[in-house]
Amino acid sequence: MKILAIETSCDETAAAVWLDDRLGSNIVASQEVHIKFGGVVPELASRAHVRLILPIVQQALDEAKVGKDDIESIAVTFGPGLAGALLVGLNFAKAMSLAQSIPYIGVHHIEGHIFSNSVMVSGPEPPFLSLIISGGHTQLVLVKKWGDYKIVGKTRDDAAGEAFDKVAKMLELSYPGGPAIDKLAQEGDPNYIKFPQPGFKDNKLDFSYSGLKTAVLYHLKSLSEMERQKHKANIAASFQKAAVNVLVGKSILAMQKYDLRQLAIAGGVACNGLLRNKLKATCEQNGFELFYPPPVLCTDNAAMIARAGKFYLEEGKTSDFSLSPKPSLALGKYS
Ligand code: KG4
Ligand code: ZN
Repeated sequence: MKILAIETSCDETAAAVWLDDRLGSNIVASQEVHIKFGGVVPELASRAHVRLILPIVQQALDEAKVGKDDIESIAVTFGPGLAGALLVGLNFAKAMSLAQSIPYIGVHHIEGHIFSNSVMVSGPEPPFLSLIISGGHTQLVLVKKWGDYKIVGKTRDDAAGEAFDKVAKMLELSYPGGPAIDKLAQEGDPNYIKFPQPGFKDNKLDFSYSGLKTAVLYHLKSLSEMERQKHKANIAASFQKAAVNVLVGKSILAMQKYDLRQLAIAGGVACNGLLRNKLKATCEQNGFELFYPPPVLCTDNAAMIARAGKFYLEEGKTSDFSLSPKPSLALGKYS
């Protein structure tokens, strides 16, 4: 089955081609227009998607060495995400489906991330735990079967990536902040200050990052300009340690609570060096198998949408033209 996949839920315009049993191409254009604003500007994202979608799709077809007439079906993200951004990808998919008389399927963005560990290799087998950590989401998902999910933990305020981005901004680092903190933290002392690692009594698997973020802000305010500059790397390392400890601790707790053997991480924050190292060591100690995608499949991409779409298309599922973008689509809802 030759599938063209499209992902435009936020600020990445992405297209990929799936060739029968392997990934044929995976093209991602990260929109640089947002950098100077220190965050994604929705209207600018939609406009950039409109400009980029055709050349990116063409590049994906060229790299996979196929023409548009070779494509047999289309997979496209239809939620959650920015309404205007989703609309560009979804309308493109519908138009191509109509013009080429081929089926298309709407894919849930988070489900795409869950499938990202199964793009290059066979990946985890349900039941397993998926930790999805990105700029917009922080969720612990019990994958009972493919397509059958239970969210067992989620953030009550900021997403993990959002916290990295906001703290990076406080430290006057570049956007997106996750990679900048990851890099700077390597030069700092993670034990410089102990930042809070909050938990909740009613659900120990839920996350909160607003307290940690505020603690960093108050600490910075307590320092002189000279001290701030001197301790920048130490603050980055101490923040990262607290943020990562929470992710590792709750993942292991969930693995034990649901008696699981496989943990798969996904989303932009899954690129984080400290997180990967800590999870590797902790999973080994506990006898758990850890899966993590290559960095290019952690951040938003269309290869993961192709892989998730392939699963549904093989089950005979397709979407009709009444499908509209769903900015707040819940996991497990497909219409
Ligand atoms: O999955 P993604 O590309 O987009 C969303 O769906 O949100 O994730 C982007 C997020 C950003 O917040 C970025 O700062 C974070 O992932 N990120 C990282 C790292 N690389 C990207 N966070 C921590 N460490 C990294 N190395
Ligand atoms: Zn994402």
